[in-house]
Amino acid sequence: QDPRIHGIQTKIRVVPDFPREGIMFQDITTHCIEARGFIFGPPIALAIGAKFVPLRKPKKLPGEVIKEEYVLEYGSDCLEMHVGAVHSGERALVVDDLIATGGTLRAAMNLLERVGAEVVECACVIELPDLKGRERLNGKPLYVLVESH
Ligand code: PRP
Ligand code: MG
Repeated sequence: QDPRIHGIQTKIRVVPDFPREGIMFQDITTHCIEARGFIFGPPIALAIGAKFVPLRKPKKLPGEVIKEEYVLEYGSDCLEMHVGAVHSGERALVVDDLIATGGTLRAAMNLLERVGAEVVECACVIELPDLKGRERLNGKPLYVLVESH
């Protein structure tokens, strides 16, 4: 195994019963400070010469948004994207810190596909393969650095 991936793996702190009882939270803030998915999206965008578009929880984006509701490992939630941030025909890489049930990535893909973008691939730092989130990505490729059981 790539020693850099081992380094990432050993720095992930597992916090039991956060944010709800029964959840083994994969804490990557030990690695980098706060904000999670947004830590990884911008540097990848810079590296590949793409723009970065944040998909955010409700009421965070100031402009007009489209919304997509989804079910999480613990409860339900909603993602929003600014209208006009992504155009029809554009190609998108969806980046997040972690895939658990796949609900979040699925909601992100739905938002992008609703505006006519093509989701090329998804990429996460951590996958919880036992939750089979990968199966919800409609066959799109998913790149992960670390699997956590
Ligand atoms: C966590 C994590 C992923 C999502 C994965 O986000 O950052 O985005 O859960 O779970 P899923 O594959 O079952 O959808 P969370 O919704 O807890 O919020 P946050 O990133 O805003 O902290
Ligand atoms: Mg998240």
